[in-house]
Formats: sequence, structure tokens, C-alpha cells
Amino acid sequence: MICIIITLGCDYMKIPNHMAIIVDGNGRWAKERGFNRSFGHKAGSENLEKISLYAFKKGIKYLSLYVLSCDNLKRSKEEVDFLFNLFVKTFNAKKKIYAKENIKVVISGIKENLPEEVFQSINDLAETTKNNTGGVLNLCLNYSSRREILDAYKKIKALDLDNFGPNDISKYMYNDLPDIDFLVRTSGEMRLSDFMLFQASYAELYFPKTYFPDFDEKEFDKALEEYAKRDRRFGGINYEDKNN
Ligand code: IPE
Ligand code: MG
Repeated sequence: MICIIITLGCDYMKIPNHMAIIVDGNGRWAKERGFNRSFGHKAGSENLEKISLYAFKKGIKYLSLYVLSCDNLKRSKEEVDFLFNLFVKTFNAKKKIYAKENIKVVISGIKENLPEEVFQSINDLAETTKNNTGGVLNLCLNYSSRREILDAYKKIKALDLDNFGPNDISKYMYNDLPDIDFLVRTSGEMRLSDFMLFQASYAELYFPKTYFPDFDEKEFDKALEEYAKRDRRFGGINYEDKNN
């Protein structure tokens, strides 16, 4: 009997379960084109929507996005107000899209210093998408990792810690998410800037030079190819590898 094996879809690639993006370079992108920073934020926000949907299409289950740090509030009032308005507009518009795409939105960040309108719109988005099962989008807005750890500590300190291990800590973070597998920061900056320090303990890091508004599907695929090449050992040794 002749067996004919037809291989379909041979483009199998290792995909991160939890990917995170530190959105960076919106301002420089705009400046290079002779526009003001707001123009860059608008372009970045449009790209964010496209790239998020693309990520879930690629099979990523959790996507964390650093869209605003607590420290970003030190910027000019004009820039911060622009960002707040942009968030309200995009969050309201996204309700329908994420319902259609079955994406659940969760929020990481603090309420302090956020205008009520921003807080309401992001909460609305989380509430309307809470039963969706097609992927989790963790929006880090007015977020600080050190603050998150402090907030977790306040909840943990009252517990009986005898049988408490490092993995139990994640239950007390803003959201109980799996570890980050792949962390990308656009624009060529190579630092974490107080972003998910606990969750990124074993993340593979990637720092493309591309400014975020130009981080399109092609750049995203390039990033995934880079991730697929990484040999993750988590402190162990791969004895099968002849280089060891
Ligand atoms: C990232 O772009 C967006 C936010 C922090 C809100 P930047 O605004 O940091 O852009 P650059 O780094 O000035 O180019
Ligand atoms: Mg920046």
C-alpha cells in the first residue's frame, strides 16, 4: 500500500502564550515627520488596534500592552490631556470590535490621578468584554510595576504564609496572568521602565528599532520569528544541544 503523506500548513512556529509590548516611539515618529507628538499618539493608537487583533489571530492568548505608565503623567498637561481623550475615544469604539472578536479586556493600573471619564470608559470596556473567551488583552494604564508589587504585598501580608510559594504571588497582582514569554519594546530603547517586573522574570526580550506607529504586521512577524529562534532553558541546560 502506498501511503501518500500530504503536509498541510507546514508553517508551524513557536508562538508565545503571553506576549507584552512596551509601546514606544510615538513622539519621535511624529517629530521625524514634522508633526506634533499628539499626531504620533493618534497613529500609535490606530496601530495598536490593528496589531492587537493580529496578535490574537496569530494564536497569542494573552497580550499585555503598556499604554501609559504612572510616570508618564509627569509630561505636559497638554500631552496628558490629549492621551486621556484619545483613550476615552478608543475604548468606547473598541467595545464593538472586541465583542465581535471575542477578546476579554482586563485592566492593570491605579485609579489615582485618572479623570473619572477615563476610568469609566476603561471599566466599561472590561465589563462588556468580561465573558469573552478568545484571548485576554491586558491594558496597562496608569501602571507601575513597583506599585503593583506593593499593592500585592498589602494583601499578602495578612495571610498565613507558611505554604506560600513564589507562584502564589501572581494571584495577588492586578490580574492573575501567566508569566510573560516574550516582551517587545519598540523604538530601540532597551529598558523595562517599571513594567511587569515580576511577570517578566523569564521573558525573552526584543528591542526592535522601529517606532511603534511603524510596528506593522510585517514587523510583528519578524518579532515572532525572533522569538521562535530563542532557546528557553529557564536556568536549566539543554543536554541535547551539542553546543553545551
Ligand atoms: C509611547 O511613545 C506612548 C506613550 C508613552 C503614551 P512616547 O510618547 O514615549 O514616544 P517617544 O519615546 O517620545 O518617541
Ligand atoms: Mg518614549
